[in-house]
Amino acid sequence: MAKTMSGPRRSEFGATMRRDAWWMEPALVAVGLGLFGIYSTWAALQGQHYFAEPYLSPFYSPLILLDWWPWSPAILILWVPLGFRFTCYYYRKAYYRAYFLNPPACAVGGVRKKKYSGETTFPFILQNLHRYFLYLSSIVLGFLWLDVLYAFNFDGHLGMGLGTLVLLANTSLLTMYTLSCHSLRHLVGGNLNCFATCAGGETRHKVWNRLSGFNAHHMFWAWTSLFMVGFADYYVRMVASGAITDPRFF
Ligand code: FES
Repeated sequence: MAKTMSGPRRSEFGATMRRDAWWMEPALVAVGLGLFGIYSTWAALQGQHYFAEPYLSPFYSPLILLDWWPWSPAILILWVPLGFRFTCYYYRKAYYRAYFLNPPACAVGGVRKKKYSGETTFPFILQNLHRYFLYLSSIVLGFLWLDVLYAFNFDGHLGMGLGTLVLLANTSLLTMYTLSCHSLRHLVGGNLNCFATCAGGETRHKVWNRLSGFNAHHMFWAWTSLFMVGFADYYVRMVASGAITDPRFF
C-alpha cells in the first residue's frame, strides 16, 4: 500500500520539514546588506573627506566635479556599481529571500502572493539590465586600477602606505567579483552551441573554463568585495578627516 508523507504545508509562511537553522542565512544577509546600504548612503552623501593624497575613495571614483552640480560627486557615479550589485544574480537570490521572504529559504513556506510573475513585469523586469551594468562597471573598474597606480605616487616619488594596500586589495576583490559574474561567463561562452566550430573557439573555451571556476565562488567574491569597498571608503575618510595617520612603508 502506498504511504503518504505528512508534514507542514508549504503554503504556510515558515512551514518546513527542515531541522537546520535555515533562517540564519537570510537573517545575516538582511543585516549585512542593510548595514552596507546605510553606510554607503551616508558616505556617498557626505561630499567631503573622500580624498587624502594620494588616495581616492572608491565610492567617488572616477571623480567627476561639475560646477553646476551642487550635491556630492559620488551620486554621479555610484549608481553604476550599485546597479551592478542590485541586479547581480547572487544578490537577487539573497535579498529576495532576506527581505521579500518569498520564500525565505529552500523548502520553506514563503509570504503568499496573489500572482507570481517572476521578473517579467515592472519593476523586476529591470533586473535584465544586469549585463549593461556589467559593461559600465568594467569601465569604472578601469578607473579604480588607475587609482591604485596613483596610490603609489607620493609627491612624484614611488612609495607605499597602508592606504595603497587597502586600495589594492579593494580593487583586486572587485576585479574577482566582476570576473566571476554570471553575465560575463555567458558573454564568453554561454551563448554558444559548440566551441569547436566557432571562431577562436579554443581560446574562448579556455577563458570560459577559467571564468566558470571563478563563477563557482561568486558569493564569496560578492561578500568580500562588498566589505572591502566599504572599508576602503572608511579608511580614506579617516585619513582625510585627520582621525588617523596613514602609515608609510617606504
Ligand atoms: Fe553577480 Fe553579475 S551575476 S555580478
